[in-house]
Amino acid sequence: MRICVIGSGYVGLVTAAVFSDLGNEVECVDIDGAKVEKLNAGKMPIYEPGLEEIVARNVKQNRLSFSTEVDAAVTRSEIIFICVGTPAMENGQTDLSYVTAAAKTIAGSLNGYKIVVNKSTVPVGTGDLVRRVITEAHGNSGRDFDVVSNPEFLREGQAIADALKPDRIIVGAPSKKVAMKLLELYATLGAPIIITDVQSAELIKYASNAFLAMKISFINQVADICEEAGANIIDVSKALGLDKRIGGMFLNAGLGYGGSCFPKDVLSLIHSSGELGIDFGLLKEVVNVNNNRIDRFVGKIHNRFPEMKDRVIGILGLAFKPETDDMRDAKSIAIINSLVSVGAKIKAYDPVAMDSARSILPDITYCQSPYETAEGADAIVIVTEWRAFQQLDLEKIRGLMKTPVIFDGRNMYNPERKRSFGFEYYSVGRP
Ligand SMILES: NC(=O)c1ccc[n+]([C@@H]2O[C@H](COP(=O)([O-])OP(=O)(O)OC[C@H]3O[C@@H](n4cnc5c(N)ncnc54)[C@H](O)[C@@H]3O)[C@@H](O)[C@H]2O)c1
Repeated sequence: MRICVIGSGYVGLVTAAVFSDLGNEVECVDIDGAKVEKLNAGKMPIYEPGLEEIVARNVKQNRLSFSTEVDAAVTRSEIIFICVGTPAMENGQTDLSYVTAAAKTIAGSLNGYKIVVNKSTVPVGTGDLVRRVITEAHGNSGRDFDVVSNPEFLREGQAIADALKPDRIIVGAPSKKVAMKLLELYATLGAPIIITDVQSAELIKYASNAFLAMKISFINQVADICEEAGANIIDVSKALGLDKRIGGMFLNAGLGYGGSCFPKDVLSLIHSSGELGIDFGLLKEVVNVNNNRIDRFVGKIHNRFPEMKDRVIGILGLAFKPETDDMRDAKSIAIINSLVSVGAKIKAYDPVAMDSARSILPDITYCQSPYETAEGADAIVIVTEWRAFQQLDLEKIRGLMKTPVIFDGRNMYNPERKRSFGFEYYSVGRP
């Protein structure tokens, strides 16, 4: 099939790479000329394991190309995937301006029947909005296209594997005939496919992310109880997760959810529910709990070091989670800003996110290794649980630090082991 993917970010690029790898001819287009230039030079604008290889392979075999010529690519395609950003506005509402801009471009290039697929995460009703925008801009009755909702569930850091082996594929289509076209595209993946109406598909994405965010806030609140009661959240989570009705994923207590999706998607669902007359109070509390995580965690650092001025704090991990360079809503930003505001000096290390972090956190010292970060530090703070931090040389770290204190925001380590190496060790929800 001839496919156009609009937007070459985390979702667009992975979608384009995977569809081309399945044998389709894919044009991935973006309005960001620098990004496209980089891609055409064989460089990835984002860090995503395995992406560079799959892109290179398909470019070489002429199934995948990149350009800024959105109109021309639309003209040549049967199916157009909208994969542009949908950030949150101040009031939590989703900013759909990128989606509507893409829809207008599509309208200007309709030269025959096309299927327009919303892969961006968009509030319920956006399928209708895109249909309206195209119809109005194109000035016809809407007979030349259909709009489908096909939300994306990939996780950064394992995006290629997720796109090739999804738990399920959701196709929200206006008719069986249109759905069949998408089925044809996805059939080779062998994943369960749920065919539904457009609105349900849109809602499935938000309900999924909001549910996961709720699990995170839930376990974090239980971790707070553990801290006060002398219980151990690791044991509590493990036991909870072994109940098949609950499941063990997203039950790791820590610094709360961040990143490019959960925070904005939860706010968006609260907002769109409100618009529909439903007060989603439960989700509002999920947000409140999440917003309080950093204050509570930084409070532990203040308790240990009441005077922060000129304290050197080493931060391990900047990205919002391991295996990505994505800094959107990363917990490192709030923690660092809070410590800097009371005079701390920050040294930081992240295996891949330091380039993305520099523009957001320009005034901290970036280090080349965890050991350089530990040198002369009053304390180390674990913010992102990169696997590479699991097996650090503890003797060496202790020898380099001014005071051997670790604040582990991700419960990466065994407290007894850390203490046996002479560290003062603070974590989340553990005695
Ligand atoms: N990142 C994730 O893990 C993830 C997972 C699932 C779903 N999503 C959803 O997918 C969507 C995209 O997310 P992302 O992380 O890939 O965003 P991103 O910011 O990384 O990429 C979006 C890209 O779209 C481009 N763009 C914007 N307007 C355009 C236009 N009119 N024409 C062409 N290109 C345009 C931007 O230049 C940018 O490169 C969002 O709705 C997001 O919620 C993201």
